[in-house]
Amino acid sequence: MPAITNIGDLKRIYERRVPRMFFDYTESGSWTEQTFRENTSDFDQIRLRQRVAVDMSGRSTKTQMIGQDVAMPVALAPVGLTGMQHADGEIKAARAAEAFGVPFTLSTMSINSIEDVAEATMKPFWFQLYTMRDGDYVARLIERARAAKCSALVITLDLQILGQRHKDIKNGLSAPPKLTPRSIANLATKWRWGIGMLGAKRRTFGNIVGHVSNISDASNLSAWTAEQFDPTLDWNKIAKLKEQWGGKVILKGILDAEDAKMALKVGADAIIVSNHGGRQLDGALSSIRVLPSILDAVGDQVEVHLDSGIRSGQDVLKAMAMGAKGTYIGRAFIYGLGAMGQEGVTKSLEVIHKELDTTMALCGETSIERLGKHNLLIPQDFEGRWQA
Ligand code: GLV
Repeated sequence: MPAITNIGDLKRIYERRVPRMFFDYTESGSWTEQTFRENTSDFDQIRLRQRVAVDMSGRSTKTQMIGQDVAMPVALAPVGLTGMQHADGEIKAARAAEAFGVPFTLSTMSINSIEDVAEATMKPFWFQLYTMRDGDYVARLIERARAAKCSALVITLDLQILGQRHKDIKNGLSAPPKLTPRSIANLATKWRWGIGMLGAKRRTFGNIVGHVSNISDASNLSAWTAEQFDPTLDWNKIAKLKEQWGGKVILKGILDAEDAKMALKVGADAIIVSNHGGRQLDGALSSIRVLPSILDAVGDQVEVHLDSGIRSGQDVLKAMAMGAKGTYIGRAFIYGLGAMGQEGVTKSLEVIHKELDTTMALCGETSIERLGKHNLLIPQDFEGRWQA
């Protein structure tokens, strides 16, 4: 196999090895995918300032996110159906993150359960919560995350209903895949994936199946969200969830300064500026574009993290230099996982780390804390001039 030198290399292998419906699930944005595309193209608009003749020895990408030491400011984002990309995907990704020294966030809509991941790891991971209509079920999920010693609860706020992703509907996305002539024809070409799946611990949503009753079809993400997710979630409920949990809370899906202020009011320990990887409100601005306005509003009072669009260590550097205190990768680690399992996730992290470290050095910086807007060339109208 030729050397893997960047995230795109992993994506190409991933596309060959994983059934089409799960590749499409990863690679989709909602509707026209404008926001999905701009999440990455907006990063490209920001340029870097080269500085020379700076002693770059002894530099480090280490820092902290919510007071926890991290080898670099990059956490693994919660990604639904990760265990469909590779057998025992959440366990493998969590192990790779633990060995690398970055946080792993387990999605409510994961295949491996909270308990599976806790059993397979030594250090605490983060748990991402979707709120459901069934309050008792949510309370039990919170209890399970506590019992698993999760060190942060990441509450997603931008998915009370699912954004429409055309391909998932056309593909009949489900976990496990439903057998149709089309899916069988595609699965038949993915023998490596299939053999792995035969030995997998689970093949459907591990935090749900066996933990809730009266569900019509737990294998179908869109049916499940429409039926179970809580459309009444509001700031009062978020404050109650924070109280119920009692530990660190990260609020994910903030894209507006007014919402960032509300997050601050309910006592979030961190917020994630995120448009859900362009998978929810198509037409919304990219995360990197709204980051400055959110930092202006709350940046000195709460830790501001960013996801959506990070595909390289250079993107990480740009977000950090802009003022974020941490970033998340979703697709960038899923490519590695689907391509090569745990080793692939490690590879994704290594690629991003090397890009971050080299870029930092060439910008004349030796630590994450020293990064700032002085490292960047930001187009004058980057945030956009919109009518008041
Ligand atoms: C769920 O979080 C999704 O984006 O599919």
